Amino acid sequence: MNKTALETYEVTLEPSGNQIQVNEGQTILDALIRNGIQTPYGCRHGSCSACKARVLEGNYEIMGRVSEYSLLSFERDDGMILLCSTLPESDLVVEIEEEEEEGVTFYPVFDFEATVAKNEQVTPDIHIIELELIAPKSVPYAAGQFFEFKVQGESELRSYSAATRFTDNNKLQLHVKRIPNGIGSNYMCDLEVGATVNASGPYGKMQLRDRERNLVFVAGGSGMAPIKALLEEVFSKDFDYEAWFFYGARTEQDLYLVDEWLEWERKYPNFHFIPALSNLSDDSNWSGERGFIADVLKNKMDSCSGMDAYLCGPPIMCETVTDALYEKGLRGKHIYLDEF
Ligand SMILES: Cc1cc2nc3c(=O)[nH]c(=O)nc-3n(C[C@H](O)[C@H](O)[C@H](O)COP(=O)(O)OP(=O)(O)OC[C@H]3O[C@@H](n4cnc5c(N)ncnc54)[C@H](O)[C@@H]3O)c2cc1C
Ligand code: FES
Repeated sequence: MNKTALETYEVTLEPSGNQIQVNEGQTILDALIRNGIQTPYGCRHGSCSACKARVLEGNYEIMGRVSEYSLLSFERDDGMILLCSTLPESDLVVEIEEEEEEGVTFYPVFDFEATVAKNEQVTPDIHIIELELIAPKSVPYAAGQFFEFKVQGESELRSYSAATRFTDNNKLQLHVKRIPNGIGSNYMCDLEVGATVNASGPYGKMQLRDRERNLVFVAGGSGMAPIKALLEEVFSKDFDYEAWFFYGARTEQDLYLVDEWLEWERKYPNFHFIPALSNLSDDSNWSGERGFIADVLKNKMDSCSGMDAYLCGPPIMCETVTDALYEKGLRGKHIYLDEF
C-alpha cells in the first residue's frame, strides 16, 4: 500500500493503465470525473447502477447508500462495485469502461460558493431558486447537467439540475420540489435571499446529442428544470425540425411556467407544448389533456421512429414513457434520461 501523509490512494485503471489519485473519503467516480476520465454514470448516488466496475486488487468500502438491488450480493462477491459509491481503503486496480461518448462534452468540475438571489414558490411544492455565483463567477456546463449541493448538517450531497442553458449574468437557476420530510429539498426550499450555499459540478450526461432530427421531451414535476435548459439550447440556433414537450402534473395548481411555454409555441411554430393532468377533480374545467403523460404521448404521437427523446421525472414516469416510446418505434439508444 502506498498511503501518503495526505491519505491519498493510487487507483490504476485497466485495461488502459491510466492512474489517478483518490483522496480518502472521495469516491472513485468523483476522482475520475475531476481527472477528465469519461466512464458511464448517471445518478452519482448509488441507485441507477450505470457506473458498475470490477476491483481486481485492493481494499475498499462500498457506501451504505447502495441497496441490494443496485448491486446484487453475487456481484459484490465477484468484486463488482459502483464507482460513485466506493471509497478506496488502499491502492486499487479497477477494471472500468473508459469511453468518450459521442455528443457528450466534458466540462471541468468546480467547487463553488453562491448566494441566493431569488427563491420563489411557484406551485404548492416547487420553488424556483436563483443562485448568484460568487467564486468563481461562472461555471461552464452543458444544458441538461446537474450540480451537487452541500446540505447543512448532512454528509450526503443532493443533486439539482440547471434550468437554463448557461449561467446567465452569473446566475444559476434551479427548480426544487419540496419532498415531505426530505432533508435536502426542505433545506433548499427554505433558503432565504442572501444565504450562502456550497456546491460542485457540473455532472451528468443528459446533454443534447443531435439537433438534426425531431425531438421529444418529457418531464414531470421539477424534472422540468433540465428539460427547459435543453429546449433553450435547441432553440438558441435555427432548428428546422419539430420539438414536442410533454409535461405531466397532477392538478392545475401543480403547473408552472405555462405562460412562458405558450409564448414559445407562438414564437416557434415547430415547438409543441402538451401539458397533461392526471389527478383532476370531477368539477375541474381543465380543457387540456387528461391522464398519465405516457398515455397522452401514446395518443398524440403517431410514430417516434427516428427521433431523440429526453426524459426527466420520477422513476415510474421515466419507465412508462420509455415503454410508450418503444411502442412508437423509438429505440433505447435514442432515449436520454435523468430519474429523480
Ligand atoms: C441527477 C439528479 C438530478 C436531480 N435534479 C433535481 C432537480 O432539478 N430538482 C429536484 O427537485 N430534485 C432533483 N433531484 C432529486 C434531489 O437530488 C433529491 O433527491 C430530492 O430533492 C430529495 O432529497 P431530500 O433530501 O429532500 O430527501 P431525502 O431526505 O433524501 O429523502 C426523504 C424521503 O423522501 C423520499 N424521496 C426522495 N426523493 C423523492 C421524490 N422525488 N419523490 C418522493 N419521495 C422522495 C426518500 O425515499 C425518503 O424516504 C435530482 C436527483 C438526481 C439524481
Ligand atoms: S449508481 Fe453510480 S452513477 Fe448511478
